[in-house]
Amino acid sequence: MSIKTPDPLVITIDGPAGAGKSTVARMVAETIGLPYLDTGAIYRAIAWWLNGMGIDPSDENGIRKALPCFSVSLCGSGISVAGKDVSKEIRGTEIDKIVSLYAAHKAIRESLLDLQRKQAADGLVADGRDMGTVVFPDAGLKIFLTASAEERAMRRYKERVSRGEKVNYEEILKQVKERDLYDINREEAPLRPASGCIILDSTSMTIKEVVDVIVSLAGEFGANDRN
Ligand code: C5P
Repeated sequence: MSIKTPDPLVITIDGPAGAGKSTVARMVAETIGLPYLDTGAIYRAIAWWLNGMGIDPSDENGIRKALPCFSVSLCGSGISVAGKDVSKEIRGTEIDKIVSLYAAHKAIRESLLDLQRKQAADGLVADGRDMGTVVFPDAGLKIFLTASAEERAMRRYKERVSRGEKVNYEEILKQVKERDLYDINREEAPLRPASGCIILDSTSMTIKEVVDVIVSLAGEFGANDRN
């Protein structure tokens, strides 16, 4: 399907860990013909970088000093830090455990605002935690995508097993719940539904059903068939 977006249409998809945001956002972007921005990957990359330099999440000063040197580039579905492709490294369980600790820092969040907003010049589908609340509050369509913690953990578990990783469901469930708590209760840009957003609970929905709902909402919110 080919869809015309009136002005650069920005669609934000926020929600807790493992709600299927990335998969859904990527498919919506492809269907509508918009670029896709995975902001979780950027937070993961910065966590990977700081952690690799031995800068602890509790080291506020160290983080502030290091930030001006953070050099990230987004290329299709890949992400590089200082020229090194880190797309795989940032998806490991080690980064899962620490990313939220870094992401809670105001200095980190502020340093990424411009980078994220610049991607929206031609419209965008962006997924994360604060896309609709902070980064793109005027987005044409805001979605809050959620599902039960058990379902989200099961999806993550299956994804990792399919990549050949040895993982434990209970451990993933624990991490998902911990990350939710941290993202919801932090002071800076806490995870919460944006004003004017549409809340979608995907617990009993297939990915295709979720994508179809969002694409059809995008149509209602001003996007029309190009042909
Ligand atoms: O989406 P993903 O699970 O890859 O995000 C990893 C972590 O990055 C989240 O748990 C959250 O702490 C942080 N994040 C954020 N704001 C965003 C995207 C991700 O704080 N916009």
